[in-house]
Amino acid sequence: MSNFTRADLESLLPACTTVPAVDQIQWYIGLDVADTVAACAEHGIVVEAYSPFAHGRIVNHPDIVDMGRRYEVTAPQLSLRYLLQKGAVPLPKATTRDHILANAEVDFEISDADMATLDAMHDTESHPLAANFRWS
Ligand SMILES: NC(=O)c1ccc[n+]([C@@H]2O[C@H](COP(=O)([O-])OP(=O)(O)OC[C@H]3O[C@@H](n4cnc5c(N)ncnc54)[C@H](OP(=O)(O)O)[C@@H]3O)[C@@H](O)[C@H]2O)c1
Repeated sequence: MSNFTRADLESLLPACTTVPAVDQIQWYIGLDVADTVAACAEHGIVVEAYSPFAHGRIVNHPDIVDMGRRYEVTAPQLSLRYLLQKGAVPLPKATTRDHILANAEVDFEISDADMATLDAMHDTESHPLAANFRWS
């Protein structure tokens, strides 16, 4: 599935003989997808997080860059690690070779306190297409 919310999932499941394995949704630090993520967890569905850098906007986000410095990683690496620790499978897009290589270097641990700080961030500039996009 892709872009399925709890409501979409709950309308689909009664018609299924097999529970879908994955829901690919937009998810990055600051985007509130908690209800969709909880619905997937209730049914054992893996969440795959696309646009993990908010289409690139997170790359230079000052608060995320600052926190990343403490772990000696970049904002994109911190973003990917955040999603991994949330239990998601991040799907970063990168066309630059150095970015592709760097995005595989996420073998560090974000502290619980910093995870809570990241959880509390709110996106104030959601992508206009994402905001309007929904499966009917
Ligand atoms: N299922 C759906 O409905 C749906 C909808 C939209 C998108 N998607 C998929 O989700 C994926 C992500 O899409 P997205 O474009 O929104 O992007 P994104 O992954 O949030 O951001 C991509 C941008 O981040 C830059 N970047 C990547 N790694 C970086 C690094 N280590 N350092 C600095 N910059 C870095 C890329 O630059 P460079 O290219 O220069 O590396 C690119 O400009 C795509 O594969 C797309 O197909 C799925």
